[in-house]
Order: sequence, then structure tokens, then C-alpha cells
Amino acid sequence: MIINDIDILLRVMDKRDLPHIKSWYNDYENTRYTSPYAYVQRNDEEEEVWYQRKMADSNSRFFIIEYKNQPAGLISYSSLDLRNRTAMLSIIIGNKKFRRLGIGQKAILKLEKYLKDEYNIRKLSAEIFEENVASLNLFNSLGYKEQGRKIEEVYRCGKYHTIISVCKFFNE
Ligand SMILES: CC(C)(COP(=O)(O)OP(=O)(O)OC[C@H]1O[C@@H](n2cnc3c(N)ncnc32)[C@H](O)[C@@H]1OP(=O)(O)O)[C@@H](O)C(=O)NCCC(=O)NCCS
Repeated sequence: MIINDIDILLRVMDKRDLPHIKSWYNDYENTRYTSPYAYVQRNDEEEEVWYQRKMADSNSRFFIIEYKNQPAGLISYSSLDLRNRTAMLSIIIGNKKFRRLGIGQKAILKLEKYLKDEYNIRKLSAEIFEENVASLNLFNSLGYKEQGRKIEEVYRCGKYHTIISVCKFFNE
């Protein structure tokens, strides 16, 4: 299936998105390879605290990925560094019926363009669990290359996991 670029919109998250974000976060299958922290379900109050913390961080921004006006997932940049012109990316297509349609690819391309056009970013990075084949393939398909590994860095699901750091440079 080929999806049209105009079907995908990135819009800044706001409070009305918290029920979706909570359900995506609380889905262990979604979160097992996205968060370096111990899995614990969040309730509405914790979701609100998470939201306020993210909104207060001027070096990060979260966007809802809308596909045909429906919330499909969340994409963000963080650790925005204007001196070195770098940032980190993270993405989740939380609504699983929208996976494998090319939405992840198109959302990353849109966020890359925004970061280049507005902040003149020259390098973007992402950190991916070694077992997360879907995410490694996704970033590889967009030209990201491995820049290093943190061996057995994170304890999740009863064992230590290696984190692969990938990056992409943009023309000066
Ligand atoms: C990783 C994730 C964001 C991919 O999103 P998506 O919209 O389904 O990805 P796309 O449809 O744009 O796929 C692009 C390419 O990524 C790769 N890919 C995506 N899902 C894959 C899977 N389940 N297995 C293997 N490769 C996969 C493929 O190369 C694919 O291209 P193809 O369909 O032409 O073969 C999604 O699976 C997800 O949200 N996973 C859980 C959260 C997560 O792991 N986030 C990343 C944290 S670093």
C-alpha cells in the first residue's frame, strides 16, 4: 500500500492526546524496546506529570503523527543542541493497525525537514535496542548509519540489552 504524504500530519501534542499516549505507553509490546526505564503502567496523574515535564523542556518537542486525521503515533526530538546543531529522534507508531504502511518513514522525513529548516540541524541520532529489528530497519532505510554501541547497557525484561546508536548527517 502506498500512502500519500498529504495524509500524514505532524502536530504538537496537547492535553487531548494524553489518553492515546497513555494507552500506547501502557502497551508493553510498544514500550519494551523504547524506554530504558523499568516498565510500570502509568495512570492519569502520572501521564499529566510526564506531559508537564516534557512541555517544560525547551530542548525537546513531541508531535502526534496523524494519518488521515487519526492519531497513529508519537514522534519527538530531544537534546536539541544549537551550538553543535544536533538532536535525538524517537518514534512510536502506537496504533498498530497503522504499522508497516510507511508512516514511520514519512514522519521521520517530515521531522528531519522541520529540524533542518528551522534549526539548521546537521546531525540527527537515535538509540535503538539491538533486538529492535523493525526500528533498526526503519532508520537504515532512511540512511542512518551505526555510530557506536553501548554493550549490555540497559536491564529490561530480565536481561541486559545492547543499545545501538545510529546517526545521519545533512548537507551543510
Ligand atoms: C519501529 C516502528 C516505528 C516502525 O514504524 P512503521 O510505520 O511501521 O514503519 P514503516 O512502515 O515506515 O517501515 C519502513 C521500513 O522499516 C522496516 N520495518 C518496519 N517494521 C518492520 C518490522 N516489523 N520488521 C522488520 N522491518 C520493519 C522495513 O524496512 C520497512 O520498509 P518496508 O515495509 O518497505 O520493508 C514501529 O514498528 C513501532 O512503533 N515500534 C514500536 C516502538 C519502537 O520500537 N520505536 C522505535 C524506538 S527507537
